[in-house]
This record gives sequence, C-alpha cells and structure tokens, in this order.
Amino acid sequence: MRRPLVAGNWKMNGSREAIDLLLDGLSGISTTAEVAVFPPYVYLPQVVSTLCGSGIDVGAQNVSEYQAGAYTGEVAADMLLDIGCRYVLVGHSERRSLFGEKDRQVAEKFVASQRSGLIPVLCVGETLEQRASGKTLAVIGAQLDAVLERAGLESVCNGVIAYEPVWAIGTGKTATAEQAQEIHREIRQQLGEPGMKTRILYGGSVKAANAAELFAQQDVDGALVGGASLDSGEFREICKKAYVAN
Ligand code: 13P
Repeated sequence: MRRPLVAGNWKMNGSREAIDLLLDGLSGISTTAEVAVFPPYVYLPQVVSTLCGSGIDVGAQNVSEYQAGAYTGEVAADMLLDIGCRYVLVGHSERRSLFGEKDRQVAEKFVASQRSGLIPVLCVGETLEQRASGKTLAVIGAQLDAVLERAGLESVCNGVIAYEPVWAIGTGKTATAEQAQEIHREIRQQLGEPGMKTRILYGGSVKAANAAELFAQQDVDGALVGGASLDSGEFREICKKAYVAN
C-alpha cells in the first residue's frame, strides 16, 4: 500500500569523480522500493543526467522558502524542479541546529516545495537531552504542528516525513526498531486518517545490518540514510531489504 522509499542523503560529500564511482555502483540496483539520492546542489545536474532512466530519483538537501529574486546564495524550488529533482529535504536537523532554521521557516520551505511540484521530505526528531527529559513526543509534535498549521493536513500527508532522532545521526547509535516504531506510530496518529498514505522514513545510523529489522515495523516506510549511502555496496544492501508489504 505504501511503497517504501530508501533515500540517500550524501550531505556535504563528494566530487565529480567520487560521485561517478558511487553512481556506477548503484546501477542495476534491485529493489521493490523507491530509491532516491540527495547530492550537494552543485552535483545535481551530473546526478540527474547519469540517473536518467535508471528509476532512481534525485532530491536536493535544502531549498529556499522564497520563490525568486534578490536572495543571494539561495536556490528556489522551481529551479530544483527545472533541473530534474523530484524530492527535497526540509528541516534536516543539521539545518535546524547548525544553520538556525526554525519551525516557521521549515514550514515555509515545505509549502514552497509543494507549490513548485517537488515532494518535500520533512525531517523531525529530538535531541538526546529532549529524549532524556521525556520531551520526545512534545518536540516532534510541535515540529509537525508548525507545518500542519501553515500547509494544512492534506498537504503534509502528501509529503514524506522522516523521523531522525538527532542522537542517532552519525553516531552509530540507532534507535531500536521498537523505539522507531513507537514514534512513527505517534506521528501517524497525529496525522489521523489521511496519514495512512504518508510514508514515514526512519533516519539515524541506518546500515545494511539494522535495516531489515527497522523495515519490518508496521509504520516504518523506508529510510533516510546518511553515511551508509556513500558506500554503494552498503546502500544497495539497504535497498534490497526494503520491500512492499501487502
Ligand atoms: P547517518 O545515517 O549518517 O546517521 O545520517 C542520518 C541522516 O542524517 C540522514 O539524513
């Protein structure tokens, strides 16, 4: 019913040569899931052109909340669509914590992406401190609410949501499959009936070794993979483990 999505967020890594090698390693990937990669902006045209016809989609890691004009250094959603992107990450925790993105801005980016015809992947997640003080659900609920208020329920449900606990990103510490399922279920409950169609991905130290257990959870519809997506062999293995449930 919900086709899983395995998304590789390459973050600020790569070079023309390294990306050619990585893409080479992804050719003929075998999976029933949807697959997408998120290279740095400057390599998007290279990746779009190499992956053309491969069945692998391309997304950007960030987008401006503005449509066009005097916004030096920004990239508009229309431009991303124009060069062949299908997806865009919004509100990744690194954007929130290192670049000061606030819920409101994330909501504007979500709306701008959808207005242009991109599919936003809205990232939410709590820090270790927030988890330790029992605030996980409140934090995620508020991150989601900000976008729900601005975009509306139906629009949010037409996007993709990625639950990425900040403490699991790049740390080698993955949430257990049960921890992930608990939060994914809560997110889906917050969305209500229209959320039954929404893909909710898990992100945070996903590897071939833990992917199957995560994907087996009822409300885990794929993964947003960071480090392991830079290794084509590992990423292929993760993709293989995602399957379409009946
Ligand atoms: P890692 O898989 O490296 O923990 O990164 C997760 C992530 O931030 C994906 O967006």
